[in-house]
Amino acid sequence: MSFYDFVARAARLESDGADLIRLDIGATQLPTPRAAIERATQFVAQQKAEYVSALGTDSFREVIARREDVSPDQVVVGPGSKYLLYAIAKALLRTGDRVIIPTPAWPAYAMICDELGAEAVMVPAEIDNNWHPGSLPFDDAELLILCNPHNPTSIVYAESRVRDWIEVATERKIPILLDEAYRGLAFSPIETFPDTIRVRSFSKEFSMEGWRLAYAVVPVSLTARLSRFISATVTCVSPIMQEAGESVLADDELILTSFRAQWRQRADHAIAELRAAGFRFAEPGAAMYLFATHDGITDSVAYSERALDAGVAVSAGQYFAGYNRFVRMSLNRDADTLTEAVRRMTVVLG
Ligand SMILES: Cc1ncc(COP(=O)(O)O)c(C=O)c1O
Repeated sequence: MSFYDFVARAARLESDGADLIRLDIGATQLPTPRAAIERATQFVAQQKAEYVSALGTDSFREVIARREDVSPDQVVVGPGSKYLLYAIAKALLRTGDRVIIPTPAWPAYAMICDELGAEAVMVPAEIDNNWHPGSLPFDDAELLILCNPHNPTSIVYAESRVRDWIEVATERKIPILLDEAYRGLAFSPIETFPDTIRVRSFSKEFSMEGWRLAYAVVPVSLTARLSRFISATVTCVSPIMQEAGESVLADDELILTSFRAQWRQRADHAIAELRAAGFRFAEPGAAMYLFATHDGITDSVAYSERALDAGVAVSAGQYFAGYNRFVRMSLNRDADTLTEAVRRMTVVLG
């Protein structure tokens, strides 16, 4: 079974009416900003939903460019950041190319490599080093994928370490694909790393998972290939979503300040409950997960099955590149529900 099979099972149990607290996926459980809903509704009513440019509408790309302090020519809009990560990896990689992926890692990176016939070189890290890997194996690599803030641990990589990696990678002409899906939800501001290819999403920052809206900031030399790939696959991102995205970015800091405060509260509550129950994890630097271990977890897959039977869905660390004594939890519920989730997780410890 894979991570996504487990998620599908939990979803089925939930739709069959099971009393299940779903902490297995990164659903925010926060309301989509009103500005997005209002703008999308107006736009639909105006009968303006036609095909638009594969790279995104001019006005949306300009707004994004201002947010990122880059030229609009560097901006590519896509239907979700997973799609853009795939599209960029496809543009950069050939069959057999080696891709460095620090772990634990979001399962999609390995899946993308697999789809492209590239070799995912998984680099281990440890909780006692705050999940920072040792030296990265740049030899013969064609791409480094970094997730910052990090899923599944929610740590933020030390700026000096990222700079070191960028320096070596640049020297060797190895591109860095920086997944910043959680950037706006970091509890303290994060450094911008301009010498990377950066991908950001509206899914987590703005609670718009199902809207499928994201963008990448790329070297201009990549845009023609990405444009061709988007044209050949989805044609363009719906202009309804792009209009909504533009309205959200008009007030992004206000929205993110409010969401961050809610994530901070959720995290503080879960941290206290889990520590009291004997779980161990790195201090999160951002929303929305904890990657936790406990002396009572020796086989994360078996543990997550028992937890599912007890009414709480958590994701086995095994699915995040073999961390079998850990589980990932999305802290996406209110305090009382998180307390009950931890109670259910505790009764099934080995
Ligand atoms: C690290 C990371 N990147 C990207 C994504 C994909 O987000 P989306 O495709 O919804 O933009 C996720 C979703 O869980 C994620 O955890």
